[in-house]
Order: sequence, then C-alpha cells, then structure tokens
Amino acid sequence: MASNSSLFSLEQVLNVIGVLTVLWLSLKIVLVIGQVFRVHVLSEKWKGVDVASYGPWAVVTGATAGIGKAYAHELARRGLNVVLISRSMEKLKQVAAEIEEQHSQSTKVIQADFTQGSELYETIRANLQGLEIGILVNNVGQTKNRPGYFLDDDNLDKYIDDMVNCNTLSITKVFDDFFSQALGIEYRSKGIIVQSVMPLFVESNLSTHVKRFWKISAKTFARQALNSVGLTSRTPGCFSHYVQVQAGCGGIFSSFRKLQSASSAPASPPSHAKSSRFPPDGHVKEWGC
Ligand SMILES: NC(=O)c1ccc[n+]([C@@H]2O[C@H](COP(=O)([O-])OP(=O)(O)OC[C@H]3O[C@@H](n4cnc5c(N)ncnc54)[C@H](OP(=O)(O)O)[C@@H]3O)[C@@H](O)[C@H]2O)c1
Repeated sequence: MASNSSLFSLEQVLNVIGVLTVLWLSLKIVLVIGQVFRVHVLSEKWKGVDVASYGPWAVVTGATAGIGKAYAHELARRGLNVVLISRSMEKLKQVAAEIEEQHSQSTKVIQADFTQGSELYETIRANLQGLEIGILVNNVGQTKNRPGYFLDDDNLDKYIDDMVNCNTLSITKVFDDFFSQALGIEYRSKGIIVQSVMPLFVESNLSTHVKRFWKISAKTFARQALNSVGLTSRTPGCFSHYVQVQAGCGGIFSSFRKLQSASSAPASPPSHAKSSRFPPDGHVKEWGC
C-alpha cells in the first residue's frame, strides 16, 4: 500500500541515477576525446596560435641539437627570426647558417653554459637587448652519457649543481612544470601563454641508448608541440606520447619485459654495487617513464 502511493519507486530512482551517471561519464569521455583530437590532430590544420604574431624573434636555449634545434628550425619555418643559445660557438654558427639558408630568417647566436650559474644571465640579457622577443623555448638540458643511479656519479657535487642550473634530472623538470603552471596562471590575463612540454623519448643525443618503438623524430615532435601552443598549457607534446602516457608509459610492454627477465635471470644488484656504472639494459629502457 505504502509503495503504491509513493511517487517513484526506489528502482525508478536508481534507474534515473544510473542513466544520469552514464550520460555524465559519456559526456566527459566525449569532451576528453574532443580535446585530444583538437590538440593533437586538428591542430595540424588549425593551430592553437600563430607563433609569429607574438613578436618577430624567438629565443631557443639548447638550440644546436635534438629538440632545441628542431624547435629553432620549426619557428624559423613559421616566419620567426631565432636567437640560438648553447655552449659551442662552432655548432651555433652551423645551425644559424642552416636556418638562414633553409628558411631565409635572421639569426643571432649567444654562447652560454647554463651550468655556470646566474652570472651568465647578464651576458644573455645584454645580447638580447633591443630584440622584440615573442617566444622563448627554454629547452636546455643535459644528462649523463647513459642513465644511471643518482649516487653513481664521479663528480656528485657538480652533478647536483648542474641539476639545478641546467635541467639535468627529472626532479628539476617537476619544478619546471609546476613553475610553468604558476607563471601561466599569473600572466594569462596579460596575454602571455606558458606551456609546459613534457615529452617521453625523442630522437636526440640524449636518447641514443634507448630503443623504443614510439621514439619520435625531433622534427615531428617540434612541429606537433608548436601546433598545440595556445590549446593546452601542459602536454607531452605530441600525439604518440599522449597515447603512451595514457597507456602508462608503455607500462604493459615494460611489465611484460620485466616478467620475461625475472623468469629468465636472477635479479640484478644495483649498479653502484657492481663494477659497471650503469644499470642492466632492462632498467635502462625504463628511463623517462
Ligand atoms: N630526448 C628525449 O627523449 C627527451 C625526453 C624528455 C625530455 N627531454 C628534454 O628536452 C631537452 C632537450 O633534450 P635533447 O634530447 O634535445 O638533448 P640534446 O640532443 O643533448 O641537446 C641538448 C642541447 O643543449 C645544449 N646544451 C647542453 N648542455 C648545455 C649547457 N650546459 N649550457 C648550454 N647549452 C647546453 C647542447 O648544445 P651544446 O653541446 O653546444 O652546448 C644542445 O644544443 C632537455 O631539457 C631534455 O631533458 C628530452
């Protein structure tokens, strides 16, 4: 008698909640897929922003190799003049000549070693004086020749300083990422875009020891990452890395390899307990995840 007189039965209420939940989750999934599609696929045609509209000059740190060099070329291809900064004057001149020849844009080179501490910023500032700069790609970074354990370094004191001054280890990247987000929020109202780009493996000097199916060329990476400026403030930079991040950074394949090596070989001791400076191959492949 009581249940007949109530407006809705418990079952009907639960049905409505279930339907609304499914609709809400479906909407979220559609929005996420739409956003990913916009950032990584449609941006090939409809770019986030016209990077050249922010000013005629771009500055790229670590511009003579790998990702930085690819950014410098891509920015020049999009109509910007480029300031190239890194340690080797010879390489700087070579990349500058390539850019001027291939893209008919102006270049300027600044020789600077970012491990040298804060004094070098005065030199950089003086060299940039008078240029109308719209884009900064703060890319410089270095690593050991091959990845290894933190304490397994011949000159640990210097390594720690370099980490802070020159983006040397992923822990400093976490700071960069957080700092970029804070700057982005702070300066958004002034029309300044700050994008934190956190790639996985990109073909460069830094990743030569890594064999990965989805390692992307620096050229393709820079193009895709620049397409996404203005569309996302925090990105792995390209579609294939986005997929890898969502899949747990190749987690399925890494776990499979670990299972394989665990079943076929005894566990390896840490590298600092062995004569070799570096961990066994299976561990090297986990670098960057
Ligand atoms: N490649 C990857 O898979 C990968 C993945 C995630 C993140 N990253 C990050 O992406 C950035 C670029 O890496 P990459 O792979 O392109 O490296 P890369 O090929 O080794 O190029 C590094 C660039 O930085 C310059 N450089 C190195 N140390 C310097 C210093 N102390 N002062 C000034 N310039 C210096 C180098 O030129 P000189 O030798 O002439 O100075 C070179 O132009 C790094 O921050 C790295 O951590 C790379």
